[in-house]
Amino acid sequence: MKRYPGWEQRAVAAQDVVAHLKSQHKIFVHGAAATPTTLLDAMVERRDLQGVELFHLHLSGPLRFSEPQYRDAFISNPLFTDHGMRGAVDEGRAYFVPVFLSDVPDLFSTRRIPLDVALVSLSPPDEHGLCTLGTSVDAARAATEHATIVLAEINEQLPRTYGATVVPFERVTAFVHTNRPLHEAHTPPMSEVENRIGEHIAALVEDGSTLQMGIGAIPNAVLSRLGTKNDLGVHTEMFSDLLVPLMKSGVVTNKYKTVHRGRTVTSFVSGSRALFDFVDNNQLVEFHPCDRTNDTALIRQNPRAVAVNAALEIDLTGQVCADSIGHRIYSGIGGQMDFIRGAALSEGGKAIIALPSTAKNGQISRIVSTLKPGAGVVTTRGHVQYVATEYGIVDLHGLNLKKRAEALISIAHPDFRAELAREVREIRHFLVG
Ligand code: COA
Repeated sequence: MKRYPGWEQRAVAAQDVVAHLKSQHKIFVHGAAATPTTLLDAMVERRDLQGVELFHLHLSGPLRFSEPQYRDAFISNPLFTDHGMRGAVDEGRAYFVPVFLSDVPDLFSTRRIPLDVALVSLSPPDEHGLCTLGTSVDAARAATEHATIVLAEINEQLPRTYGATVVPFERVTAFVHTNRPLHEAHTPPMSEVENRIGEHIAALVEDGSTLQMGIGAIPNAVLSRLGTKNDLGVHTEMFSDLLVPLMKSGVVTNKYKTVHRGRTVTSFVSGSRALFDFVDNNQLVEFHPCDRTNDTALIRQNPRAVAVNAALEIDLTGQVCADSIGHRIYSGIGGQMDFIRGAALSEGGKAIIALPSTAKNGQISRIVSTLKPGAGVVTTRGHVQYVATEYGIVDLHGLNLKKRAEALISIAHPDFRAELAREVREIRHFLVG
């Protein structure tokens, strides 16, 4: 690929890039594989900064700014809490923002969150002077458009991606030039329970469906069972390695999609180097900002949209907790509601919530009569449709509370079914059996 003339000569050291930061600045930090670790590391070496506020989705790699000794310098506001930030959120050094993923770009474009800086990773500029946001476009595109300045790590190893991913090189105030491996996320091994859930869900996926699969073992278990389907489409907020064989083998053709027909659409990817190489310069994969990928009005236009999202706990009325374990913030709202609603509204669509029937080595049921105090409802009982565990899959849409309780108890772990039925009889407004 031809490169923009003279761009490399304008690179500076990482400490000179972060010299543009000031106390009290509001900074967006690019996420997942594209986390600009070189700049984050340089940022924490600035000992003069105070009260800098960070806004970000899922971050990868070392997050030194969140360590206790930097609490006066950096305050983080995770818009999604991943494992790297959970400790800081638990200990009051970071403050979780509950928000639909589809709404995040607007927080920046309307200046409800007035960003001073976008701290991003970019692929090197092409001959036209255009960089791309690589593996994560999500809210990074809005951040680069609306922050006062853009500070970048231009990394030779960041894929050059298609879609709405471009950032003009001339928009960048200062950059460091690196050739550093991206942060990889490896596919977790699938347990017997996840495999069974994957089988139940895969059986519901019809030829010609448009898929959204979240991250984690259950979506992977579903993807690994779709090899015999035909003409699937993909319109999702993220995808991982296991989609690649389905695209390469021709199972995913995107032929019946009405929005971005013929293209797999995503907002970011998370996975291995093989996945990054697959999306590099690949016109069949389009990356779009998350206010487009997660727009319910677009999701619903694709035929037979199937959304598969995981949960932590569900009560017998169908309220789905997915972002906290009781009061403890565990993750975030992300795109769950965007896709659950979009899929439910699509013609022939299926909105699926999936969870193992138990947690803590089978000691507690995830299907409960009452959510834990503090549990965050992400999908409401008005939005919930299909629910899958390793014991089967039920469709709650249109069922009254009595039938919902019966349906959910039928897919609870057998050790907890009698107890759940007893608990539900004690609750005033509905009865079982
Ligand atoms: N009570 C107590 N502990 C529980 C629990 C419950 N009801 N449910 C789960 N846990 C524990 C598990 O035992 C596990 O602990 P461990 O790490 O010590 O083994 C941990 O919580 C995580 O549970 P798990 O089921 O493995 O979670 P996951 O990694 O599959 O993630 C979500 C599930 C719901 C957190 C994740 O899908 C998410 O963040 N969803 C919200 C956003 C979303 O859906 N976005 C759209 C797709 S990208």
